[in-house]
Amino acid sequence: MDKVRYGVVGCGSMGGFYIKNRLENVFSDDSVLTAACDINPDRLKQFEGTDVAVFEKYEDLLDSGLVDAVVIATPHYLHPPIAKAALERNIHAFSEKPAGVYTKQVKEVIEAANKSNAHYGIQFNQRTHHIYRKMKEMIANGDIGELQRVNWIITNWYRTQNYYNSGSWRATWEGEGGGVLINQSPHQIDLFWWIVGEMPIEVSARCSYGRWHDIEVEDDVTATFRYKNGATGVFITSTGEYPGTNRLEIVGTKGTLLWDAIDYNTLIFYKLARDSYEFSMDLESHGAAPALERIVVETDGLSTQHVGNFNNFCAGILGKEPFFVDGKTGIHGVELMNGMELSGWNDGETVSFPIDEERYLRELNEHIKNGKEKAVKSEKGFNVEGTFGTK
Ligand SMILES: NC(=O)c1ccc[n+]([C@@H]2O[C@H](COP(=O)([O-])OP(=O)(O)OC[C@H]3O[C@@H](n4cnc5c(N)ncnc54)[C@H](O)[C@@H]3O)[C@@H](O)[C@H]2O)c1
Repeated sequence: MDKVRYGVVGCGSMGGFYIKNRLENVFSDDSVLTAACDINPDRLKQFEGTDVAVFEKYEDLLDSGLVDAVVIATPHYLHPPIAKAALERNIHAFSEKPAGVYTKQVKEVIEAANKSNAHYGIQFNQRTHHIYRKMKEMIANGDIGELQRVNWIITNWYRTQNYYNSGSWRATWEGEGGGVLINQSPHQIDLFWWIVGEMPIEVSARCSYGRWHDIEVEDDVTATFRYKNGATGVFITSTGEYPGTNRLEIVGTKGTLLWDAIDYNTLIFYKLARDSYEFSMDLESHGAAPALERIVVETDGLSTQHVGNFNNFCAGILGKEPFFVDGKTGIHGVELMNGMELSGWNDGETVSFPIDEERYLRELNEHIKNGKEKAVKSEKGFNVEGTFGTK
């Protein structure tokens, strides 16, 4: 194989990205678009007169013999069944985020991936960002010492009611399985464990449902986490604030890493001359606190984002590069999201990880059953340009 023949399932806003960037040769030469699938025939009209074969059922695309890989850009609930169907056919699967809506369905994909000869990839484009990669590297190196606190305020997701009205699946338990936690924040929720290199052990979350919009799912969340060593974490997100904040602070006994989107390409490290706990307990210590140095951390400056991650997926299939993202790790973000959701539904109850996945599914189904009819139903789509990539 010298090029990966791929099909796109779901030719909406994000699917369009994998179509346009291939047709305009933005992607590397490692791939060729051979097929497309959408249940909405209008979205397939763009391929009339081209070599791209079109399908209304994803199974037909997978069985066509025309694809080595499939990009899954449908609404979230469908990511796992389509990925699983592809992997079972030894077709490489590249899923849009999130890996799924609930952990139980993602586990089925992981099982299929473990048995498959094909690779399971996922669009965690934010993991390519130089600041996040550097933070992960420094924490793994022990530069911050023992973890004390992780704080992420990511509230610059302002969305209008018009956005929520732009698709009947959006912001419903049935169509999307959640709100800001599952649609806007999956990248940060993934980075929340990926950067630190460890999952918290429990969470308690306050979620407000339809606080700022006429929607049934959460659009405002404050969650507190606890880690194995007693460290704490806070994750705050909202689609109702403007202009909002995007600030990540990771504190350890040897220093603090600080990144704020206001200064997008700058990572600050407050490096302590001595471990703050050791300093505090050392009765011979002089001064009120350890000496401190403010360092602007040097990074490689690279952030290849969606294009880079997709190119890597194709290069990986061709054996040219190691895969950067293993789709199986997508389950951690789904687990964190499910934990926050479960706690929010139960008045901030403390939920331990791993969550009780049967309970989660039961309560999600209750929410679906009791869901309200969406006020506006239309499929006019919404231009997501500018709503992803940099956040
Ligand atoms: N990585 C990112 O930064 C990023 C950004 C935006 C969206 N996304 C993700 O991309 C996915 C799609 O979002 P979107 O904004 O493109 O939605 P969209 O509504 O614009 O497009 C979804 C498309 O899927 C089609 N579809 C639905 N069911 C299908 C089925 N059974 N088979 C084939 N096609 C089907 C719909 O007809 C529609 O054309 C979501 O999971 C979202 O989280 C990722």
